[in-house]
Amino acid sequence: MHLGRPTETISLRSPILIKQLVIAIYPGSFDPITLGHLDIIERGAKLFDQVIVAVLCNPSKSPLFSVEKRINQIRESTPHLKNIEVDSFTGLTVEYAKSRQASVLLRGLRVLSDFEKELQMAHTNQTLWDGIETVFLATTKEYSFLSSSIVKEIAQFGGTIDHLVPENIARDIYTYYS
Ligand code: PNS
Repeated sequence: MHLGRPTETISLRSPILIKQLVIAIYPGSFDPITLGHLDIIERGAKLFDQVIVAVLCNPSKSPLFSVEKRINQIRESTPHLKNIEVDSFTGLTVEYAKSRQASVLLRGLRVLSDFEKELQMAHTNQTLWDGIETVFLATTKEYSFLSSSIVKEIAQFGGTIDHLVPENIARDIYTYYS
């Protein structure tokens, strides 16, 4: 057992078992959250005791929605998931993971071109802290083409995005571009 990790005591008659809770961080920009992200969150919630969806606060980018807005959007999209928390962070993901006692970084993999960048990030994070494991979930086939950038591009030119993002997000995006 790793010291310092959150635990849960389970009594299955006897003996008493101490179960180490597995907390996963799902970091990202989520500008905006898409149905592809939601799919990863829902599947992650089944695999881990807690999933913290962590919105990166990156001052060098100019996002469509503020960090506070994105946090609210993700909360509004996930009321059906009880073991989900939505938060924001600045700086290194592994430092945030440490501060939240998380042992897993959750990421989705869509297509081969994602793999190189994701593997580089996973390896980099491992060199920064060997207490973290990156777990990749293969994105559901129907969302393999989907990204926040694609959603923004379609919306910018007046296209329909209702099939790509949760309902509340579609409303926000239509309002933004109207
Ligand atoms: O949704 P995104 O933009 O693909 O998410 C990228 C993210 C936020 C996971 C990545 O940029 C990140 O972890 N940034 C924090 C800085 C950091 O920890 N860098 C070292 C790992 S490459």
